[in-house]
Amino acid sequence: MKFIQCFVAIIWLFTVIQTVITVNTPVVMYHGMGDTAYGSINSVKTFLEDKFPGIYVTSIQMGNNAEEDFLSSYLMNLNKQVETACAIIKADPHLKNGYNGIGFSQGGQILRAIAQRCPEPPMKNLISLGGQHQGVYGLPKCMGSIKICNYVREMLNFGAYVRYVQDNLVQAEFWHDPLQEDLYRNRSIFLADINNEKQPRNESYKINLTRLKNLVLVQFLNDTIVQPKESSWFQFYNQGQAKIVYNLRDSPLYQEDWIGLKQLDQTKRLKLLGAIGDHLQFHVHGKWFEDEIVQPYLST
Ligand SMILES: *[C@@H]1O[C@H](CO)[C@@H](O)[C@H](O)[C@H]1NC(C)=O
Ligand SMILES: *[C@@H]1O[C@H](CO)[C@@H](O)[C@H](O)[C@H]1NC(C)=O
Ligand SMILES: *[C@@H]1O[C@H](CO)[C@@H](O)[C@H](O)[C@H]1NC(C)=O
Ligand SMILES: *[C@@H]1O[C@H](CO)[C@@H](O)[C@H](O)[C@H]1NC(C)=O
Repeated sequence: MKFIQCFVAIIWLFTVIQTVITVNTPVVMYHGMGDTAYGSINSVKTFLEDKFPGIYVTSIQMGNNAEEDFLSSYLMNLNKQVETACAIIKADPHLKNGYNGIGFSQGGQILRAIAQRCPEPPMKNLISLGGQHQGVYGLPKCMGSIKICNYVREMLNFGAYVRYVQDNLVQAEFWHDPLQEDLYRNRSIFLADINNEKQPRNESYKINLTRLKNLVLVQFLNDTIVQPKESSWFQFYNQGQAKIVYNLRDSPLYQEDWIGLKQLDQTKRLKLLGAIGDHLQFHVHGKWFEDEIVQPYLST
């Protein structure tokens, strides 16, 4: 009897020690439009916490409560969001040795901006799920509140590149009009900036982004919300029309390596993944998420 008890105790001790030693890299999540930090994406947090005992998973909230956070996904300047999120991340002692980022929809480009502007503490793997890295041209299905969505559409129609709209409307800040590339480049206060479209290019964006271990860009292959869906892979309409989409590796952004994508690609750290299904429609407990995301990027 004694022997068995002792044996059980030893096994238990080993398990505890192993858990303590192999605590996973913390995770920072960033939600998308019409969602909140602990809204629908909370299932990912719960899943990771169950799977990896001891893991620290946090989610960036803008403002003081869920309502302000929800509104921020439409009506808060993205540069300000990046600055605020950077301060939150820097102040969190759990993140001081680095973290993995998971961005949901527009949270993907926001986290990328954080990697580019605020690389300390280091973001290790950045997983962008259905992000709009070349912006959108169209808002076929605005998410969340009908009232706010109507307001968003009204403002976009009024003029996405009007200064007041740029300063206040999230969706305008990654509005990319291929019929007016010049205007986009000149006036987009967020996306054109983080994509280093403006002259002189800021070399520091490339230095910062290439500190990532991996940049994992998931495109939902049947996405009916992101227009064009290829924007999730930094691909967009050829200038002057809104039908044909260019390949990332043919674009000047890649070839002249404005932000380090080519360097990441050549060192096998740029992962372009496709997922069957509509926007963000993957199963947290499913095989795709497990095999393509959790095992390769979140399990250590
Ligand atoms: C790149 O990161 C550094 C911190 O390491 C920061 O000071 C700099 O402002 C960042 N670059 C840009 C363009 O934001
Ligand atoms: C964009 O800015 C450049 C340089 O200031 C200017 O020459 C050009 O006319 C501007 N284009 C538009 C459409 O605003
Ligand atoms: C690059 O960005 C950093 C941080 O914002 C800034 O200090 C620096 O002046 C910028 N360099 C250029 C060439 O714009
Ligand atoms: C989803 O996209 C894949 C890949 O492009 C395609 O083969 C499939 O037919 C699409 N499914 C639906 C339901 O549209």
